[in-house]
Amino acid sequence: MKILVVGSGGREHALCWAIARSPLCDELFCAPGNAGIAEVATLVPIGSEDVAALVAFAKTRAIDFVVVGPEAPLVLGLVDRLEEAGIKAFGPHANAARLEGSKGFMKDILAKYQIPTAAYGRFTDAGAAKAFIRAKGAPIVVKTDGLAAGKGVVVATTVDEALAAVDTMMGDKVFGAAGDELVVEEFLAGEEASFFAIVDGTTALPLAAAQDHKRVGDGDTGPNTGGMGAYSPAPVVTPDIVAKVMERCILPTVRGMAAEGAPYRGVLFAGLMIDKGEPKLLEYNVRFGDPECQVLMARLTSDIVPLMLASAEGRLAGETVAWSNDPALVVVMAANGYPGPYQKGSVIGGLDKAAAVEGVQVLHAGTARDGQGRVVATGGRVLGVTARGATVAEAQARAYQAVDRIDWPGGFCRRDIGWRALDRS
Ligand code: AMP
Ligand code: GLY
Repeated sequence: MKILVVGSGGREHALCWAIARSPLCDELFCAPGNAGIAEVATLVPIGSEDVAALVAFAKTRAIDFVVVGPEAPLVLGLVDRLEEAGIKAFGPHANAARLEGSKGFMKDILAKYQIPTAAYGRFTDAGAAKAFIRAKGAPIVVKTDGLAAGKGVVVATTVDEALAAVDTMMGDKVFGAAGDELVVEEFLAGEEASFFAIVDGTTALPLAAAQDHKRVGDGDTGPNTGGMGAYSPAPVVTPDIVAKVMERCILPTVRGMAAEGAPYRGVLFAGLMIDKGEPKLLEYNVRFGDPECQVLMARLTSDIVPLMLASAEGRLAGETVAWSNDPALVVVMAANGYPGPYQKGSVIGGLDKAAAVEGVQVLHAGTARDGQGRVVATGGRVLGVTARGATVAEAQARAYQAVDRIDWPGGFCRRDIGWRALDRS
């Protein structure tokens, strides 16, 4: 088959790495991709949100199957447009991608189908949102309804902070139209984990769980980021938690979305808060997590292509998914300054030496080749140094051994990825 992956981050490098090892994949393309992806796929210079150009490319090149990595093209209807052109695709249609595209829509679905989550209100009026915040008190969480590249959430510890968030999101329109509507919700305490299922409209198969490190600094300090590292499995997600999440969250959501006339297929990413053995759903994402995908693909021993095809064709019942028991861990290397302003174009050396460490795969998130063929940083999150090991400690040691072989003065990483899992072992 000719397969096209859409996106350019670490998640898409991980997907390309997994797809390229499938015997079903004859030719792999990635739009727009990055310097690491170029080693396993042919890069196509089309942005991941340029729906018309992606569909035209897929038609002209007779692509058999398109795998969409990020949420934005899903919300824009890329899968719908591809199917109209007769091209199969992995990922939800636009009406189901609303689970991530509108937090208000997602919360209403959770409420309607009685899925455990934080109590909430939806607001299009700043005064009403503020009255709700004053009535509920702090801590309280304020979120933009629409997509804000992971930045539209303020976990406020005081009422004043929450009121200020309403002004920034709705008044100053820092996130544009995403802030036309807000969700204000109850603060949930507990330990966070990411859980993934693959869905075909009616059947959902559990994949695996992972834990992400959202804060930029060691010890979970500093501002939130897209994710500075992850590991899988997540010790907090026990078999009992998996059973509860499937029964109380994933399956009712899949049935509910079908009943709403918006059947869900693709990867369903449940952001969980787990407190005293009871999971609650923080949010859904309609795609793999980044960097969680990197560790999932490092542990997956099944061929991913038949699973993705079965999701797209409604044939998941009876499919199975196999994983290595070895944990995997990814350390994200980011450009100095991230998640604030950062420089682009710094040269990265030592990648081959890093990749030579046993069990290590250096996945690229924001890289390109310069005129002299050198790998240079082009994004905030730049590399995902991914390692497998017999234990989390071994995976962590291998990942940092590889990190230390990378010669990149323009970048940094956290030195404590995996600490929660190590504390438990
Ligand atoms: P999100 O972008 O919705 O994943 O939210 C970003 C982060 O904010 C989450 O990963 C949580 O750490 C935190 N968060 C979101 N909602 C809540 C909540 N209701 N209670 C506590 N923390 C939350
Ligand atoms: N790592 C969290 C996310 O992909 O949203």
